[in-house]
Amino acid sequence: MLRDGGLENYELKGDLDIRVNDADCSKVKLELAPADFADVQFKQHPKFVKFGAGPKVIALKNDSQGFPVNQNLGVLKWRMNTKDESHVPLTVTVWPQPNGGQSDVAVEYELEAQHLTLKNVVISIPIPPGALPVVSDEDAQWTADRGFFQWTIDTVDADAPSGSLEFRCDGDADTFFPTNVGFAASGSLAGVDVQSARLADGSEAPLSQEKIITVDKYEIV
Ligand SMILES: *[C@@H]1O[C@H](CO)[C@@H](O)[C@H](O)[C@H]1NC(C)=O
Repeated sequence: MLRDGGLENYELKGDLDIRVNDADCSKVKLELAPADFADVQFKQHPKFVKFGAGPKVIALKNDSQGFPVNQNLGVLKWRMNTKDESHVPLTVTVWPQPNGGQSDVAVEYELEAQHLTLKNVVISIPIPPGALPVVSDEDAQWTADRGFFQWTIDTVDADAPSGSLEFRCDGDADTFFPTNVGFAASGSLAGVDVQSARLADGSEAPLSQEKIITVDKYEIV
């Protein structure tokens, strides 16, 4: 992200693994819930039926074969490149106001992807080594160590989607970049969700899903 707003580069990569735990369910077909995949490019395993215009079904080309049992199998990958800021799940603003040799730095976050629950959000802002920031918000969880001011927020979700704090610290407007953001979340940013798992006779197989989002790199420059 650019400090004055806008997206310089965005890349999302996803993959879907299947694990069949019951040999009786190995010949299963999965169907994805309908979603807007306009910005999403899918890549399928060559042994699977190619997605067409209709519902996205994950099924082996050869009906007489089944999924391996008790073994993870990667069946689908996807990627999304966009210049559309609204795909960024959490926007973070770092706004330094220089004041003598110091700056008053206003920091704010806002959850854009309201269907996600972000855990352990860490906003990591460079500061001069040894600088002692004075923080306005007494309840904020923060540390100042090894040249970084780190603000940690345990949970960001639709019930608590935004927050802000201010700190005063040595440094000019350029000191506080690049800021790094990290978090973990459950859910899918691209909107990939398995809606059903059906056996050859059309009956539903029991299905559970685990969806994990991790941040490889999120930088505000
Ligand atoms: C389908 O799989 C079966 C069992 O592995 C195999 O015998 C058969 O040759 C396969 N058919 C095709 C068209 O590949």
